[in-house]
Amino acid sequence: MGNIKFLLLAFFLIVNVANGCWEEERSALLELQANIMSLNGELVVDWAGYNANGFINCCFWKKVKCSLATGRVIELDLAARFGSGDDWRFNASLFLPFKSLQLLFLSYRNIIGWTKNEGFSKLRQLPNLKVVDLQYNPIDPKVLLSSLCWISSLEVLKLGADVETSFNVPAYNSSMMSKKCGGLTNLRELKFEGYGISDINILFALGGGANSGLRNLEKPHLNDNSFNSTIFSSLKIFPSLKHLNLAANDINGNIEMNDIIALSNLKHLDLWNNNIESFVTTKGSKRMSSLHNLLLGSSNSNSSRVLQSLKSFSSLKSLSYEDNDLTATTTIYALRNLSKVEYLYLTGSSLNDNFLANIGQMTSLKVLSMPFAGNDGTLPNQGWCELKHIEELDFVDNNFEGTLPSCLGNLTSLRWLSLNGNYLRGNIASHSIWSRLTSLEYLDIAYNQFEVPLSFSQFSNHTKLIYLDVSSNTIIPDTEFQN
Ligand SMILES: *[C@@H]1O[C@H](CO)[C@@H](O)[C@H](O)[C@H]1NC(C)=O
Ligand SMILES: *[C@@H]1O[C@H](CO)[C@@H](O)[C@H](O)[C@H]1NC(C)=O
Ligand SMILES: *[C@@H]1O[C@H](CO)[C@@H](O)[C@H](O)[C@H]1NC(C)=O
Ligand SMILES: *[C@@H]1O[C@H](CO)[C@@H](O)[C@H](O)[C@H]1NC(C)=O
Ligand SMILES: *[C@@H]1O[C@H](CO)[C@@H](O)[C@H](O)[C@H]1NC(C)=O
Ligand SMILES: *[C@@H]1O[C@H](CO)[C@@H](O)[C@H](O)[C@H]1NC(C)=O
Ligand SMILES: *[C@@H]1O[C@H](CO)[C@@H](O)[C@H](O)[C@H]1NC(C)=O
Repeated sequence: MGNIKFLLLAFFLIVNVANGCWEEERSALLELQANIMSLNGELVVDWAGYNANGFINCCFWKKVKCSLATGRVIELDLAARFGSGDDWRFNASLFLPFKSLQLLFLSYRNIIGWTKNEGFSKLRQLPNLKVVDLQYNPIDPKVLLSSLCWISSLEVLKLGADVETSFNVPAYNSSMMSKKCGGLTNLRELKFEGYGISDINILFALGGGANSGLRNLEKPHLNDNSFNSTIFSSLKIFPSLKHLNLAANDINGNIEMNDIIALSNLKHLDLWNNNIESFVTTKGSKRMSSLHNLLLGSSNSNSSRVLQSLKSFSSLKSLSYEDNDLTATTTIYALRNLSKVEYLYLTGSSLNDNFLANIGQMTSLKVLSMPFAGNDGTLPNQGWCELKHIEELDFVDNNFEGTLPSCLGNLTSLRWLSLNGNYLRGNIASHSIWSRLTSLEYLDIAYNQFEVPLSFSQFSNHTKLIYLDVSSNTIIPDTEFQN
């Protein structure tokens, strides 16, 4: 009890020293909560309760963050949980007292529209507003975009829907919407996921178009829509494009490489869960030299053919080919031609017996990650052990069995090794490999059939090791150090 009293006393001292939050912002928070409660049911936080109990410094209230310098509210997190709350008609005036607001999170709030003249466009009166998250509100995206288009300070905008969502068109339109907005010229990142949209022109509502609007957009997440392969040539209107997510769309067939090469700043391209058959070059095509990361997989197309067509991505450093059948024997030969790839992610993809036996020629590899791949058999004692520069190996949850091949000890650059969830066996003490792997920082051999001596003395020289998991193996008494 005494301690609690002391804590409360300390709390009030801090409140006094910090002068508390601004009175107008405290009452605005209380009004906001009253509005959310009367219209939306779910109580995200109990600010009124804090206030009634004398915790009046709203900068210490949950879901509120203030600037240390000014005591002004800079972040409001009103995100709710999936499927909670009744319909809410947004009222922008409730947010205008927070003059320094930078981040506003309103996902899953069941916003179906706004009250008359109180749409999102009015938030342009908050000159520092940079990040707005409105994901998973059942409001028609086109109407939403034309209202948000007025908040020219925005740098990050997150929108998205569940595939099942049926959209509401707000009953009242902001009077501003009929005029032309200036566009989100500061926008760097846009999430626009799950709307099933097939026409990119919808983004013109944010002030797109050739030379205006979204000219600084670097990172659009357009996954889970219905774009087809014409999307690449349409994206030329965003000259700053660097990081593009087009996973789970309807991009099928042969992709014209020149359309991708035209996106000349693109570094990261996610095409997971489409059905691309190959990337085709025409005579005299240049190479795609800016792209470093490419994500493919979860498709029915011929993976050998896709991999063979990746040659024009001449600067590819990281390739992900996940959730795919990669058992064709030719897959490995196509992969080996991608000689600059350093990071290879094959999570959930099934591989052929000859994969590990032949991957050693990808000498540039630093990371080989192939968890949850359902591969079986014993680990071969050659091939993969020629990966001289390998730093991370992830074989989690395959069905590898037998003892560890001695060549594993040759991978002396290995920092991170996970063999968790296989059927590997043998006494750890009888292996010389561990004494050679002194670069290890992370080692997980849990859920196997190893015998691990109680003293862990095999790892006594591993001064860099910070994570070791040997659980769910057999721990045995030490026999070695009985001197
Ligand atoms: C919107 O909020 C403002 C500020 O609290 C309030 O004065 C106004 O009545 C509200 N509008 C509607 C239609 O509820
Ligand atoms: C609201 O905007 C939509 C789309 O711009 C338009 O079709 C509709 O007629 C407008 N409704 C009102 C009440 O102005
Ligand atoms: C691809 O998408 C564009 C833009 O929505 C559309 O005009 C075109 O008809 C589509 N092409 C095919 C083959 O579906
Ligand atoms: C897949 O493509 C490779 C290389 O283009 C070809 O040799 C092979 O026959 C194809 N496999 C199937 C099943 O079509
Ligand atoms: C690998 O590259 C060489 C040289 O460009 C080419 O001749 C060969 O067909 C390629 N192999 C595969 C499997 O793509
Ligand atoms: C592993 O290293 C040993 C000793 O340096 C060497 O004899 C052996 O050939 C190497 N094995 C492989 C597969 O590189
Ligand atoms: C640890 O290093 C010392 C000195 O190099 C060596 O004598 C000892 O055998 C090593 N221990 C293990 C478990 O490798």
